[in-house]
Amino acid sequence: MRKTIIAGNWKMNHTGKETRETITALVQGLTGAEQADIVIAPVFPYLPMAVELTKGTAVHVAAQNMHWLDNGAYTGEVSPAMLKDIGVSHVIIGHSERREYNNETDETVNLKVKSALAHGLTPILCCGETLAQREGGIMQSWIEGQIENALKDIAAADITKVVIAYEPIWAIGTGKTATAAQAEEVCDIIRKKLAALYDDTAAQDVSILYGGSVKGKNAAELTACPDIDGGLVGGASLKAGDFLEIIHKAV
Ligand code: G3P
Repeated sequence: MRKTIIAGNWKMNHTGKETRETITALVQGLTGAEQADIVIAPVFPYLPMAVELTKGTAVHVAAQNMHWLDNGAYTGEVSPAMLKDIGVSHVIIGHSERREYNNETDETVNLKVKSALAHGLTPILCCGETLAQREGGIMQSWIEGQIENALKDIAAADITKVVIAYEPIWAIGTGKTATAAQAEEVCDIIRKKLAALYDDTAAQDVSILYGGSVKGKNAAELTACPDIDGGLVGGASLKAGDFLEIIHKAV
């Protein structure tokens, strides 16, 4: 179901003490009148702590990845059943850093999206192009291909349970944010691709987020775009004050 979502991807940051301090400050900074769904994604070891600290608040907890199977000889992996068991509600899937450093492919992303849905977890499905792909004029076909491959065999009844995050790789961690027009153009392409794969009603009911150097100063302009339903925030989610500014600026 389409809603405004501000999600914080903490990546490999914050020890247990920092996690506790950041979440406590975040929760204390909420007014209760926030218009957005708030999600935080700490590292695996502190997910139970995050679930405990956010219980009864408007903050949901996400994992930054998962395997698609429930168990087995997969050293270092974590299953959707285990995430569900500790109270996690969302999971980031297919982040460009995992595609680059951890052999994530469209095929494994598709397996993970299907498995997340099967376990009642909300997948935050990431897509995005490199600067070379954008400058080479293949951004649209690349994004459309990522979306089509990631959603293979996902039923129409389930697509509105998927959150999509457009993260231009050239804007991640660089401080070079896409302009609102650039971000809106691609989120519109994604929504039109969803309409082609499913129908207009389903496409209009999917939350599409933008990620890539989202800050307090650009959050309002980005989330005011007709096809941008929030942000997937990296660096600016690590300090409660910065993240709260984005949450309160989102429209
Ligand atoms: O998943 C969000 C992340 O990739 C964006 O990072 O630091 O550019 O906000 P950042």
